[in-house]
Amino acid sequence: MKKTALLPVLALLALPLGAAEPAKRSAAWEANCTVCHGDDGRSQTEEGLKKKARNLADPKWQASVSDGRLTSSIQRGHDKMPAFGRKLNAEQVKALVAEIRALGKQGS
Ligand code: HEC
Repeated sequence: MKKTALLPVLALLALPLGAAEPAKRSAAWEANCTVCHGDDGRSQTEEGLKKKARNLADPKWQASVSDGRLTSSIQRGHDKMPAFGRKLNAEQVKALVAEIRALGKQGS
């Protein structure tokens, strides 16, 4: 009896050790994207859920979109995703596309 009661407690204690470190994002990401897409790109933030922002870390979705599409979505916007073409220069957008690609490689 005692042993089984302890199991959930042990599982909880093990959680922080097993969980991956939260991904470190660039300053441009933190300033412009985190509010909706979160630091992990999964868009589980209040704003992200409200606007139905997609999970940018999903490898299947990543495989279905080109870098050109990601670039154009960031610069010109896409559905409820705002446009950042006036706020970010081409280099910054390129770096963000690379950052999104890195998220996809972490798997889900
Ligand atoms: C106000 C909330 C909001 C912010 C801020 C935001 N996004 Fe989004 N984003 C969204 C939503 C909502 C979608 C889903 C729209 C869709 O399905 O096309 C989206 C979709 C995307 C997509 C996929 C679009 C596609 O082509 O399918 C990319 C890439 C993306 N966001 C990147 C970014 C980057 C990079 C930033 C920061 C520069 C950012 N987003 C900031 C809300 C946001």
